[in-house]
Amino acid sequence: MALLPILSYPDPRLHTVAQAVKAVDDRIRGLISDMLETMYEANGIGLAATQVNIHERLIVIDVSEERNQPMVLINPEVLWLSPERVRGDEGCLSVPGIYDGVERARAVKIQALDGAGQLRTIEAEDLLAVCIQHEMDHLLGKVFVEYLSPLKRNRIKTKMLKAQRAER
Ligand code: NI
Repeated sequence: MALLPILSYPDPRLHTVAQAVKAVDDRIRGLISDMLETMYEANGIGLAATQVNIHERLIVIDVSEERNQPMVLINPEVLWLSPERVRGDEGCLSVPGIYDGVERARAVKIQALDGAGQLRTIEAEDLLAVCIQHEMDHLLGKVFVEYLSPLKRNRIKTKMLKAQRAER
């Protein structure tokens, strides 16, 4: 197990479109355990492979209070999005310290392989549904700040670049 470095917005690599995972093999199993460790260490509820600069369709999520219900989604596909939408504040491990309102479908039905390579259908609502949509956006190269107004997005970009310069 190893902690993986997380790309920070506005790193252009966050806009890479991920490719399908070809086989759930040892390399993917190792990546899953590293991504879970990285997500828990960073106190996140979800992490997409894109965020650790691996451009394959793989997501880890844990929205449980106890942080003991890891979910692995490989090659996820949306089957259904509820017409009912909700608006809530979102954050992202690639945009630390920034939280802002995004509108999403309140419920989703998706299909994905799990960590054992089994095809699963998952129905999710509320926080889990929002998290799945947020993470699936990462696989398409999309970061949640892109839903915000250009003014807000530019402000966030400036703030992030400033913080990144200060770190160096
Ligand atoms: Ni994110």
